[in-house]
Amino acid sequence: MSLDGVRINQDRLWRDLMDMAKIGATPKGGVARLALTELDRRARDLFVSWCREAGCELRVDRIGNIFARRAGLDVDRPPVMTGSHLDTQPLGGKFDGIYGVLAGLEIIRTLNEARIDTLAPIDVVVWTDEEGARFGGGTIGSSTFVGRYDVETGLGRRDNDGITVGEALAAIGYAGDAPVGGYPVEAFFEVHIEQGPILEREGVPIGVVLGAQGARYFRVVVDGEEGHAGTLPMELRHDALLGAARMIDALNGVAFRHAPHPVITVGQIQVRPNSRNTIPGQAVFSIDSRHPDNRTLAAIERDMRAACEEIARKAGLAVAIEPVSQRDSIAFDRGCAAAVARAADALDLPWQEIYSGAGHDACNLSLVAPTGMIFVPCEDGVSHNERENARPEDIAAGCDVLLHAMVERASIA
Ligand code: GLV
Ligand code: MN
Ligand code: MN
Repeated sequence: MSLDGVRINQDRLWRDLMDMAKIGATPKGGVARLALTELDRRARDLFVSWCREAGCELRVDRIGNIFARRAGLDVDRPPVMTGSHLDTQPLGGKFDGIYGVLAGLEIIRTLNEARIDTLAPIDVVVWTDEEGARFGGGTIGSSTFVGRYDVETGLGRRDNDGITVGEALAAIGYAGDAPVGGYPVEAFFEVHIEQGPILEREGVPIGVVLGAQGARYFRVVVDGEEGHAGTLPMELRHDALLGAARMIDALNGVAFRHAPHPVITVGQIQVRPNSRNTIPGQAVFSIDSRHPDNRTLAAIERDMRAACEEIARKAGLAVAIEPVSQRDSIAFDRGCAAAVARAADALDLPWQEIYSGAGHDACNLSLVAPTGMIFVPCEDGVSHNERENARPEDIAAGCDVLLHAMVERASIA
């Protein structure tokens, strides 16, 4: 099967990305489309309608992952898969995740037009709730697919309003009935914007991703005592928010003590009762901690716990640091990385090896199937931000590399 001269359609892919970005568009050019909301439903519906037009067979599993299949010639072959996510951060961009999904669709359209058959089927997947902005842990669909936890656990995760993943899926009509995972995947490839500054700085259009750093996520509950803001003298207070503020500063210090690699972020906080003239009785905040080395990640956790407990003790507060989820650092499959590099070479596209600072559904897939990732540059390395942007030619280049790598894999007899 020759792909000589076959290229994806840059304008069509770009148009799809811009059309998808209208669903949940923010005034500053970003997208706010939290997982399993009405907006997510509209994005999923649009993807499904495009896949139907492209002749795909569609399936939705019990955790809401959507699979669009282009059949292969060999009915016994497991699928070669690609995909990513359609959900975004509360103030996210047009490309994070969405690119990986629509690039998969663009590959199918390109193969249809070029009348190219593969032996293995090609599946394009929308993984449920990759971002974790609503239900906490992140990568719920792909984690469940690879068996990191069972379906009931995934369906039972709750958002801050107490709504479960299962209830939210039913509400938007994506509580499918296909079993979740449990079958072989021949290979998984994901194309994604880098979300960091390296490729742009180096002027290299393609990143061959070798692995991703590990992460541990926590929910910290600080308990003090409510009191009257006007009458309770300062020295008698047990102010949970003040304690949390000191902890957040100390956590930042932990990251710098383990420099240069770790990153620690507190991005979410809730205060109770959240009243101007009541001393906060409770503060609950998130910790996102990451490092390329799993042992250092464990040491960072010990230091973070010690720092928070010490502050709580001094301030007469109680603190509980609850693990939400964790992901070890991972290495992607060498064979898939080599296939990506070969594809870039065949297309005359400069490439370099790179590691991912972000988590991706591909990290989960790498636990059950040979997995590779392709990065393309994004403007100023900015992501999880409304001004996230990328150049159409880079977006097209990454999709072409994905096409070549997947067709090679799906055509090997
Ligand atoms: C995914 O967006 C992550 O948090 O790494
Ligand atoms: Mn992403
Ligand atoms: Mn993201």
